[in-house]
Amino acid sequence: MSSKRDLQIASLLIIVLLIAGITCYAAFPPPSPEQPVRIMFQTSAGKVLFGHASHIGEYDLSCKDCHHNLDDEKTYRCSDCHEKTGDDDMPSLSDAFHTKCKGCHEDNGSGPVECNSCHVL
Ligand code: HEC
Ligand code: HEC
Ligand code: HEC
Ligand code: HEC
Repeated sequence: MSSKRDLQIASLLIIVLLIAGITCYAAFPPPSPEQPVRIMFQTSAGKVLFGHASHIGEYDLSCKDCHHNLDDEKTYRCSDCHEKTGDDDMPSLSDAFHTKCKGCHEDNGSGPVECNSCHVL
């Protein structure tokens, strides 16, 4: 075999692999990032910047550590259930956040618990 023919076969192989690669990539796109990376809460006490991705990735939490309802419901928004004012059975939206967020930070002994370490902006 001439080295020219080797080169032709090699080129053809590269092209075939490239097409196969592109086809696979198009057929199985990576899941769209529906999970928020960061969430900015606007509140009357100042804005809270919450690292959604860092809580999952760096602090190694599971979805249900926060989305405690996921066994029954597919909703991820706390406000779908927790309303502005709560009652004995159902904490208000801000109580739900404060209890959940601050509670875990206190239990773990890490993460902000002072008002102005969450409400920073
Ligand atoms: C440390 C707490 C925490 C963890 C862990 C967590 N989330 Fe969240 N997530 C939140 C909060 C808070 C919101 C904002 C909810 C709101 O605004 O009512 C949110 C919002 C979302 C939203 C957007 C909902 C919308 O319609 O705007 C999705 C989707 C979501 N989370 C998916 C997940 C998935 C999947 C996991 C696990 C891989 C996960 N979350 C883990 C706290 C968390
Ligand atoms: C599908 C409805 C639903 C969604 C969505 C929901 N909750 Fe709740 N939550 C409830 C109900 C009902 C209760 C009261 C009964 C109970 O304690 O489970 C409750 C209770 C709580 C409590 C008090 C009980 C406890 O565990 O200490 C906290 C805190 C809380 N929710 C935080 C959150 C946060 C934060 C989110 C969003 C990340 C959220 N909830 C999303 C329905 C929901
Ligand atoms: C189940 C446990 C848990 C819950 C729930 C939780 N956190 Fe955290 N959070 C952590 C841990 C662990 C750290 C890391 C602390 C460190 O490394 O010093 C942290 C760090 C933080 C930090 C500082 C570092 C950063 O990533 O910005 C902020 C701000 C924060 N959390 C906000 C929130 C808010 C707002 C909520 C509620 C929506 C929340 N957290 C719910 C465990 C939790
Ligand atoms: C771990 C983070 C964190 C800490 C610590 C924290 N907050 Fe918040 N706070 C939040 C989040 C997240 C919300 C957003 C709730 C919402 O969207 O209704 C909020 C909402 C509020 C609101 C708005 C309630 C409303 O209905 O508009 C007030 C007021 C507030 N916080 C005051 C405080 C005070 C005072 C402290 C200290 C005693 C404190 N917060 C500590 C995270 C925190």
